[in-house]
Amino acid sequence: MTPTLVVEAAGIELGDRVLDVACGDGDATLHAARRVGPRGLALGVDVSAPMVERARRRAGKAGLANVGFLLADARTQRFAALRFDVVVSQRGLIRWTPGDGGFANLARALRPGGRLVFVSLDDPGRVRAELTRAGLVQTGAARADVDGVPSWIFTAGAPLAAGVEDQLASSRRTPLSADGWRSRESARASI
Ligand SMILES: C[S@@+](CC[C@H](N)C(=O)[O-])C[C@H]1O[C@@H](n2cnc3c(N)ncnc32)[C@H](O)[C@@H]1O
Repeated sequence: MTPTLVVEAAGIELGDRVLDVACGDGDATLHAARRVGPRGLALGVDVSAPMVERARRRAGKAGLANVGFLLADARTQRFAALRFDVVVSQRGLIRWTPGDGGFANLARALRPGGRLVFVSLDDPGRVRAELTRAGLVQTGAARADVDGVPSWIFTAGAPLAAGVEDQLASSRRTPLSADGWRSRESARASI
């Protein structure tokens, strides 16, 4: 699989704070750390201790100071203080049980106007319903051929703070799309 497809799709920019859920040995996290530069940060989270160990070793070898890895269950871990700009996941949200609160936990980890972008094989109708139930908005699903495997890139946004939606309604903000997110500067400027 293209190791960092999800980072490309998410349109990560300099200075972003990025959470990589179910990061494995850190491919997408490391790519995100390079993309966000020294003023941004990338945090990978995974439930597997060997994966987290390996990811930390890779980050050390790469000499990246803006990356970290956390051994935790992303469905329940409280990320409260961090409020990420972007949450990504590559094949990590597979078979999250409907109603287990996992997506709602990720929604809480996003700043208002932040976005969730992930690659999954799961049924788009079911996943989008879960995202909506978790309080996320502007959900989308686009087909993606990932190493010959028919997959989906899902996108969803955290609602903006009250009143900001109205201010943005007539602005140049572009809706979330699966091939990238082009709206944040105007959203950020208004928050
Ligand atoms: C198919 S691997 C994908 C790894 C990586 N994202 C990649 O694309 O190479 C799935 C990963 O999800 C992790 N995982 C599964 N459920 C998780 C959860 N609830 N919280 C954190 N990590 C989880 C597993 O430990 C495993 O490393």
